Amino acid sequence: MSLDYRSRLKTLEVSHKSRNDLVSEADVAIEKFLVEQIRQAYPGHAIRGEESGDVAGSEYCWIIDPIDGTTSFVHGQPYYSVSIAVEKAGAYALAAVNAPAMGELYEAQAGGGARLNDEPIHVSATAELSDSVMATGFACIRFDQTRNNLAYFNALVPRLRDVRRYGSAALDLCYTACGRMEGFWELHLKIFDVAAGFLILSEAGGRWGDFAGTPRGVCEEVLATNGLIHEQVMHLFASVTQKSNQPGG
Ligand code: IPD
Ligand code: CA
Ligand code: CA
Repeated sequence: MSLDYRSRLKTLEVSHKSRNDLVSEADVAIEKFLVEQIRQAYPGHAIRGEESGDVAGSEYCWIIDPIDGTTSFVHGQPYYSVSIAVEKAGAYALAAVNAPAMGELYEAQAGGGARLNDEPIHVSATAELSDSVMATGFACIRFDQTRNNLAYFNALVPRLRDVRRYGSAALDLCYTACGRMEGFWELHLKIFDVAAGFLILSEAGGRWGDFAGTPRGVCEEVLATNGLIHEQVMHLFASVTQKSNQPGG
């Protein structure tokens, strides 16, 4: 469906939720389609959709980001995804992240491992920051935020092999899950951006949480890695946070 909209990008209606937070008619249409399908198949289930809000209802909750990476999408870039997670009684049970422009479908089931296009995936075995590639993002809501990613970026990037900014947090988590890179961090994310990617990463052997290492549904800060570089990045980020909390920091 997103590929149909992608083929007529020039005429696509795009509006602003806030200064840099875009929503296109494709985001709204894809979410509407998904919600209709879920309601038909599972009428009692709760749904949290980024564009349509929350429908309460049962111990099952579908968390939908119809296009994660709308900025990439409206600029004709391929790094965007459709991200869907299912929670059962508050724990992630199922996840799918589809990147249609790249022909990639990532999936996971709690306890059942993670797959890319039906092939099992696993995080990388890299343990050195100097051999690691990480992705980050600068949240589209950043203009309303006083806490900025730049201090973390400046401290970490010189220690890495390289850094990427793909533009879809869901895909950043999947790329970490399949071992294409060692980790990802970002501030001010929302649950729609990361719920499916969190399960896919966990099932691929990775680790995620806030900058102090605690797994949380609240996404004010997210650090996700192959597990092996996690402590090193956490320590570095702790010193950045401490400095920025000091007077004049
Ligand atoms: C965005 C993407 C992006 C991240 C932004 C998110 P959206 O989601 O995940 O990578 O940097 O913070 O808002 O708005 O395209 O669904
Ligand atoms: Ca998103
Ligand atoms: Ca979105």
